[in-house]
Amino acid sequence: MLRVLVCVSGGGTNLQAILDAKEAGKLEDVELVRVISNKKDAYALERAKKAGIEGICVSPKDFPDREAFHGAFLAAVDEAAPDLIVLAGFLVVLPAEMIARYRNRIINIHPSLIPSFCGKGYYGLKVHEAALTRGVKITGATVHFVDEGTDTGPIILQKAVMVQEGDTPEILQRRVMEEAEWVILPEAIRRIAAGYVSGNPLRQG
Ligand code: GAR
Repeated sequence: MLRVLVCVSGGGTNLQAILDAKEAGKLEDVELVRVISNKKDAYALERAKKAGIEGICVSPKDFPDREAFHGAFLAAVDEAAPDLIVLAGFLVVLPAEMIARYRNRIINIHPSLIPSFCGKGYYGLKVHEAALTRGVKITGATVHFVDEGTDTGPIILQKAVMVQEGDTPEILQRRVMEEAEWVILPEAIRRIAAGYVSGNPLRQG
């Protein structure tokens, strides 16, 4: 069993896609051990609760400084003893210590075809605003390993999505989620659990 911890900040539709894949029997070798949110009111926590998975909040607002928050966050991660950490719309920069400790065991979903529209400042709706401003005709989503950079780690899966006439950032965001994100995130987890992702230390066993 691959012990998977999911980190969230918002609505949690990507978390839902993972929960649905599990429910549908597509993630047989995966156990969802904990959901951590940095926001108390994140709807993702409701989704975890409904699925019977432990959901906790570790908010920077409850700590005097960044260091204290990072310490508590990392403790909450370690306590769950995850094999794989999934950033599913988690909008917090990870502590360097965590990236080092869980190297090649943290994956992120990004709502564009990396290396387009990624890096510092590109998150959520801003990614789709930038894609429409640039006038690209194809966008998509990427699942990648997390390293010290912003959206720079090795790419695991990508899926393209067509931009359509009259798209707003919100319409495009929804299409990218439906056609790409909710497909490739559970699929990447499935492949990692099955040992299909080459060069990845989770392969053994
Ligand atoms: C998703 O579109 C995800 O790709 C994006 O935030 C959204 C979260 O939605 N992540 C980033 O932009 C990371 N740079 P969700 O809470 O409904 O899954």
